[in-house]
Amino acid sequence: MKFFIDTASLAQIKEAAALGVLDGVTTNPSLMAKEGIAGEERVRKHYVDICEAVDGDVSAEVIATDLAGMVREGEELAALHPRIVVKVPMIKDGVKAIRHFSSKGIRTNCTLVFSAGQALLAAKAGATYVSPFIGRLDDVSTDGVALIRQIRTIYDNYGLHTQVLAASIRHPMHIIQCAEVGADVATCPLSAILALFDHPLTTIGLEKFLADHRKAQQPAKV
Ligand code: E4P
Repeated sequence: MKFFIDTASLAQIKEAAALGVLDGVTTNPSLMAKEGIAGEERVRKHYVDICEAVDGDVSAEVIATDLAGMVREGEELAALHPRIVVKVPMIKDGVKAIRHFSSKGIRTNCTLVFSAGQALLAAKAGATYVSPFIGRLDDVSTDGVALIRQIRTIYDNYGLHTQVLAASIRHPMHIIQCAEVGADVATCPLSAILALFDHPLTTIGLEKFLADHRKAQQPAKV
């Protein structure tokens, strides 16, 4: 399973990339706003900076919600860097835009997906990635991981090539559960990736190894 980081923070992207396990980045307008990135020129420069900080796909979301606007914006975003993936919302014009981009060889990430039917539409339109938001489903007492499993089954039934990108991940167990049910990608906050490192027995075990090593270096008593 590929690991993407879900942030627009260059510092966090660089920290995750330095771990050697990062495969890409997803952003959205809220994450860009959180970093204070505003204005068309700054937004576009920031996407290029992200592409230069990580060796993997970088999702950049369109703001327009009509077909002509999404097509224009998406083509401009895709021209910024070969690894940009155009992120398009799951609405009727979004699906039409995905079909357009797919016919032009522009890769897409269909976002704001909350049902298997939406995921099927995105795949039929030729989306490169589909982003089911599992944390936001859990927030409304609906099983987000179950949706990933359902989409995996449907895509496998028909040999659909759209990659299942589990999004809105809140904690390390989400990552493990998504891996168990066969998500192609998990896009995670840095905190969830870092939490995967932690186990108390690793900490205790390492302390013991080092203490025993230190003891063995002391001269033997006669
Ligand atoms: C990623 O592509 C999504 O925009 C993101 O995972 C949404 O996460 P949130 O529900 O934590 O905002």
